[in-house]
Amino acid sequence: MKITVVGAGAVGASCAEYIAIKNFVSEVILLDIKEGFAEGKAMDLMQTASLNNFDTNIIGSTNDYSKTANSDICVITSGIPRKPGMSREELIGINAGIVKTVSSNLLQHSPDTILIVVSNPMDSMTYLVHKTTTLPKNRIIGMGGALDSARFKYRLAEALDAPVKEVDGMVIGGHSDKGMVPLISKATRNGEKVSDLLSAERLDQVKQDTKVGGATLTGLLGTSAWYAPGAAVSSLTQAIICDEKKTFPCSSYLNGEFGINDICIGVPVVLGKNGIEEIVEINLDQSDMDHLKESAEGVRKTNKLLNI
Ligand code: 2OP
Repeated sequence: MKITVVGAGAVGASCAEYIAIKNFVSEVILLDIKEGFAEGKAMDLMQTASLNNFDTNIIGSTNDYSKTANSDICVITSGIPRKPGMSREELIGINAGIVKTVSSNLLQHSPDTILIVVSNPMDSMTYLVHKTTTLPKNRIIGMGGALDSARFKYRLAEALDAPVKEVDGMVIGGHSDKGMVPLISKATRNGEKVSDLLSAERLDQVKQDTKVGGATLTGLLGTSAWYAPGAAVSSLTQAIICDEKKTFPCSSYLNGEFGINDICIGVPVVLGKNGIEEIVEINLDQSDMDHLKESAEGVRKTNKLLNI
């Protein structure tokens, strides 16, 4: 099996590294437009193979899409990351053109691939791919909710002073500082509702810290985060390649689900060999449903900037 990652920057290289270490595909193609950059990252990563015990073959390419042919999954991380103080939406002017070109180039060589979109503003970039390619909607997946949910679980574990593996929680909605919907009412520690374990004030702090998780790191790092985004992508790709039928919140094209039409936004989906096997219309209380609808309007507003 073969996965292509476009963009050999910090996020793309982390995707390649985590996919390689998890050892569930034979080949990863890492592609970038910068001369020699992807080849260098690929070689550096391959020199960890004996240390990290993986067999995955990582191959770098400077903008030669023929090397990506017949990829089972293609991950698009290319585009500019945000700087401190920027919103993800401000990247749309530059990143839309890049994502459109990259997805077209990928599909010329892998017409039946599954596309995972990471570039921001992610929900709108996912929608752009949906509207400018002929890929079926189950084969176009936006990665945001898996990352936001990981940050949500990190903050819940911090608040509970608990091991993160005891915590479960999901974030749906837009992958944006204002649009995320951390599902506090469904979050648990060892099956117990966190709303029975933490005060309303502390839970609100968890929600706020989750929503600005990306911006917090951009402020500390001077650029977008890369480890957690890379790990989130590796989890989605593993669920697809290994046909795990695992549920993740992913940006998906909605056609009436949750009463929402004609946008891509983070909702629970079952991932397997066909990409999005099923959109899971979980029960939402009125407050969460209202927040999801509000978030959808924010995504729709950003989509309008695409002029498609
Ligand atoms: C993040 O939240 C890059 O949007 C991504 O870190």
